[in-house]
Amino acid sequence: MVSQGTNSIIWRFFLPIVIASLFTPNFIYAKQSKIIGLKMNVIDRCWRPNPEWRRQRYQLATCSVGYAGKMTNNIGDDLIHYKVIDPTDDPINPRPGTLRYGASVIQGKVWIKFQRDMKIRLEKPLLISSFTTIDGRGVNVNIADNACLMIYKATNIIIHGIRIHHCKAQAPGMVMGPNGKVITLGQVDGDAIRLVTASKIWIDHNTLYDCEDGLLDVTRGSTNVTVSNNWFRDQDKVMLLGHDDGYVRDQDMKVTVVYNHFGPNCNQRMPRIRYGYAHVANNFYQGWLQYAIGGSTEPSLKSEANLFIAPIAGNKEVTWRKSTHTNMNKWEFHSVRDVFENGASFTETKGGHVRKPNYSIEQSFEVSDAKSVRSLTMWSGALRCSKTSIC
Ligand SMILES: *[C@@H]1O[C@H](CO)[C@@H](O)[C@H](O)[C@H]1NC(C)=O
Ligand SMILES: *[C@@H]1O[C@H](CO)[C@@H](O)[C@H](O)[C@H]1NC(C)=O
Repeated sequence: MVSQGTNSIIWRFFLPIVIASLFTPNFIYAKQSKIIGLKMNVIDRCWRPNPEWRRQRYQLATCSVGYAGKMTNNIGDDLIHYKVIDPTDDPINPRPGTLRYGASVIQGKVWIKFQRDMKIRLEKPLLISSFTTIDGRGVNVNIADNACLMIYKATNIIIHGIRIHHCKAQAPGMVMGPNGKVITLGQVDGDAIRLVTASKIWIDHNTLYDCEDGLLDVTRGSTNVTVSNNWFRDQDKVMLLGHDDGYVRDQDMKVTVVYNHFGPNCNQRMPRIRYGYAHVANNFYQGWLQYAIGGSTEPSLKSEANLFIAPIAGNKEVTWRKSTHTNMNKWEFHSVRDVFENGASFTETKGGHVRKPNYSIEQSFEVSDAKSVRSLTMWSGALRCSKTSIC
């Protein structure tokens, strides 16, 4: 009886301390990073385990891989910190505190974060200036229901942690340009993110769905792009790399597509490639309707260690080729270490050789075994970062 009583006193006294210490942020941080540290992909591992990420947001710029390289031009002593506090939009006279003021009016290096959860309905496409980072971490930011994002003749841009959906086509009109001057913009299709003559662009951890045209278009001589950790879903035409069959300048286009989750309910273009070279690695394909990866006009593709799960009913073939009379035999579609489930198949180019991406040290990353793709992509899309734990 005595010892039992002592025990219960000890437990009454110590248990709350034990419980409290179990829930301190440091403990949770240590525990979570131990549990998930092994599975996190190389980009996430670079910043997510840091419990101080809110105060050290700029660390993200050092985490990119692939053709965008490191985004270190976006940070430094001259960086302007800007906080969006006002979800409204005026396309010609943007008010300070709005997203458009930070992204189009302010020139030079700017790091944009958001004060709170918000839904932004853009009146016209948002033209993002060079050296701009849009960082939605820690809050729930939706850009939806009208115009969406455009990168036009700009370079060194990061788009991270935004939910972009229900984007609609826009009639021609006046809008604040990426150089802080009002310009006339022609008709724009309803894409979530459209790149026009853009370079060194990193699109990471965004959730993109249900837009009138496509989710991501990389066009008109755009190059040096990394598309990573995004969740693309509920869309007919997902991702277009290369403007049209007549636009030969896209020959130099280089795009890395890594750690993304495609599906459910995606129909085609994951991506569709014209000209150029795409390294598509460690992505999770949750079905498709017409095809997953396709192209025309001499595209080069290295599909490496992706997980392709064919739809239960319908087309099991991953690839699609637009038949043209002149360059029928110039496809370079290669599959290396891909894993196919549900009867998925991949028609490779016969003969030829797999073009290497030729990454620099800054761009290179180790492509994991396709068996780990489910866990490498499990946090794709905009993250939910709670206050007490890691992001
Ligand atoms: C793309 O990146 C390479 C280095 O990786 C660079 O040499 C080239 O100039 C870049 N292209 C553009 C259009 O910025
Ligand atoms: C990488 O370099 C090799 C050898 O120069 C070349 O054949 C190949 O086309 C290059 N890859 C790309 C994507 O440019």
